[in-house]
Amino acid sequence: MPFLQYRVNGFLITLEGIDGSGKSTAARLIAKRLQEAVPQRRVILTAEPTGGQAGKILKAQLSSSGGSEPSVATRMAELFLFMADHADQLEKLVNPSLQEGAIIVSDRYADSTAAYQGVTLRGVVPDPVQWIREIYSPWNRRPDKTLLFMLDPALALQRMQSRPEREKFERQEFLCEVDQNFRRLAALEPGRFAIIDASQDAEDVADQSLKPILELLEQA
Ligand code: TYD
Repeated sequence: MPFLQYRVNGFLITLEGIDGSGKSTAARLIAKRLQEAVPQRRVILTAEPTGGQAGKILKAQLSSSGGSEPSVATRMAELFLFMADHADQLEKLVNPSLQEGAIIVSDRYADSTAAYQGVTLRGVVPDPVQWIREIYSPWNRRPDKTLLFMLDPALALQRMQSRPEREKFERQEFLCEVDQNFRRLAALEPGRFAIIDASQDAEDVADQSLKPILELLEQA
């Protein structure tokens, strides 16, 4: 039974959605409630981009909002920085923690790369969403469940108006395209994705989110 050696005992839950969809607030609530519901397992809350070396470079770049359209080389470099950050996260946190049986809740993961860089690399390669999925496929750890926080991009931008700093991806046309990419990713793997109505308040969103996670744990 050669495949058995690859079986990991933990669970990987990822949260995806456009900027302003309320993922990060929900992630904290979800992780807290999950830990209460399953005290026998360690629940780890994490996020991408990470605080590692590639993540730090990315965060510095993301906060420099304005300026002219970045070159193809710059956009490509950004894709590979997100991938390097993801590889680092897999190696240092995701794979070892899953092997120890933890439940990981990740605020963004590889689907964000397909959805966001799938927009920035349009016109550079023929189908960037699919291309990015293919680059990830041989080495990525597929999430056990992905919660997709759905919110009208106009509403998401309104929610972000109160934030002091704007990041470069926070423009409506851009977020509409990211939203389309997320919908496409969900349609490609309907069993993995659970759609969350992110227009409700944080408590309701956390309640909605917990259901598919608990179902997953019960089935295992
Ligand atoms: P994040 O810190 O999650 O921002 P927020 O809390 O505002 O959602 O992510 C920062 C930005 O990075 C966000 O606009 C999404 C983008 N991003 C990508 O473009 N590609 C990726 O692979 C990831 C993980 C994030």
